[in-house]
Amino acid sequence: MRSKAIITSALPYANGEIHLGHIASTYLPADVTTRFLKLKGVEAYYICASDDFGTPILLQSEKEGKTPSEYVTHWNKRDYDDFTAAGIDFDFFYKTSSSENIQFVQDVFKKLDAAGHIYQKEIIQFYCNNDKKFLPDRYVKGICPYCKAADQYSDLCESCGRVPEEIFDPRCSICGVTPTKEKTTHYFFKLKNFADSLSKWLDENENLQKDVKKYVQNWIKTGLIDWDITRDIVWGVPIPLDAAKGKVFYGWFDNHLAYISTAIKFLKDKGIDGKEFWNSADIYHFIGKDIVYHHYLFLPAMRLGINSEYKLPDYIPTRGHLTLQGKKISKSRNWYIGLKQFLEYYPADYLRYYLVAINPYSQDDLNFDWNEFTNRINSELIGNVGNFVNRALGFTKKAFDGIIPETETYDDKDTEAENRIKNLSTEIGALMEQNHLDRALKKIMEFSSFFNQYFQHKEPWKKGPGTATCVFLSVNAACSMAIAIFPFLPESSQKIWTQLGFAGKVNENKWDFISNFLVKPGHLLGEISPLFVKVEEEEIEKYKKQLGPE
Ligand code: MF3
Ligand code: ZN
Repeated sequence: MRSKAIITSALPYANGEIHLGHIASTYLPADVTTRFLKLKGVEAYYICASDDFGTPILLQSEKEGKTPSEYVTHWNKRDYDDFTAAGIDFDFFYKTSSSENIQFVQDVFKKLDAAGHIYQKEIIQFYCNNDKKFLPDRYVKGICPYCKAADQYSDLCESCGRVPEEIFDPRCSICGVTPTKEKTTHYFFKLKNFADSLSKWLDENENLQKDVKKYVQNWIKTGLIDWDITRDIVWGVPIPLDAAKGKVFYGWFDNHLAYISTAIKFLKDKGIDGKEFWNSADIYHFIGKDIVYHHYLFLPAMRLGINSEYKLPDYIPTRGHLTLQGKKISKSRNWYIGLKQFLEYYPADYLRYYLVAINPYSQDDLNFDWNEFTNRINSELIGNVGNFVNRALGFTKKAFDGIIPETETYDDKDTEAENRIKNLSTEIGALMEQNHLDRALKKIMEFSSFFNQYFQHKEPWKKGPGTATCVFLSVNAACSMAIAIFPFLPESSQKIWTQLGFAGKVNENKWDFISNFLVKPGHLLGEISPLFVKVEEEEIEKYKKQLGPE
């Protein structure tokens, strides 16, 4: 772990609202990780931006009678607000259409060109005579040439994850008509130049997920294809060549460069040298598995192509997709839950708890299920954590006027409890460092459940010998939990902190303080109240019915 870190998550298209699927695979894991790194004392910054360019956004803005720039400004703000409401705490949220990014992308292109990684080629481009439009990317659907899956986009096969060179049986996705072909000159990035260096980088980087590496290596073995980085549309970063008037870069050429340009802009405003920071930091790019090709091949190849002036990522945590009630999320079929909508039902921490708990560090898909959500919130978050904290603090309030007593002798159970607190910070910390956020959260739950049993076993309400020790250890356990859950459940964490009678912000602590017994004898607790409100079955039945038609 380096003392600096830059964390990014896949940039959301400025083209519609954020839903639970987005949060689960990238934004939440990245946010939890950043909060953890900051507590560890790492100078960590969580950087994001809206992904503004591309044909789908241009066409949608036209449909709505807005300029593309007005359109993306709207979604940029809305996305940011929704993220913030969910406790996703970016240090900086910018946009790929910023002047800084446009400049940066054009500079990178010139460097790649000068190094011989760009060439020009006349190609045939689909054109729909019905819609009177060039049809790049998502506007052509057909059969994937690799895996033969039908109804796949021309720029990405969702079935095998590859980017087809040319799709079979192309159709205009707007009207279904077979498009005609027209000649146009496009610029290509020589991805083929990088087969060996990419393969070496994958081999040598221990921090990348093994299973992902394996299939990316396989793609390299079966042969990389040079990459068309040009689009004949008006909305994009202009290609900075006289001969390329009216042409822009493909969105996937410019968007990931905004990781760097946005970080530099943010750091510059803080008076920090961005390049120096970037190159001495751990670089994390959190993504979902649908964009592995772009992040394990295009992105590193482009950085290699400019002599690693900005270093390659150390971590690319890649997670699976969220399904909803066992079915694929689909906006058009109304089978999705908007983030904003969810937060009108329940606090952000409920969502954060559940989505971390069901989300392993792997590419396996995960499923949001309303019943499971209800059970886990009620029995784990409320029945375990909420119950313990309320019991420990509530009893201290009642029996000791909220003043922590001096400890007495320790029996075996007390010593075990004491050791649990002593070991908690390293135990969870190790899991967090390995990206196993779900297992780390589970450990906190086990800790809480141990202390519930400990409290029950000690029966402090009988006021026998050992009562003071039990109170001292239990309140300190609650304090340890307040800090440990901060990355996951920031609001609840702060509530516990305040109830413990501490002023200020819980994240002014260091991670190691989890094991430091911060609550001393003589300390006075704050006001105690229940942390959570139960999820009612009737409510979720209502929410289930809002999905569909299915
Ligand atoms: N907007 C893209 C998507 O939602 C992700 C862009 S990530 C970046 O699939 F690296 F390219 F920026
Ligand atoms: Zn058409």
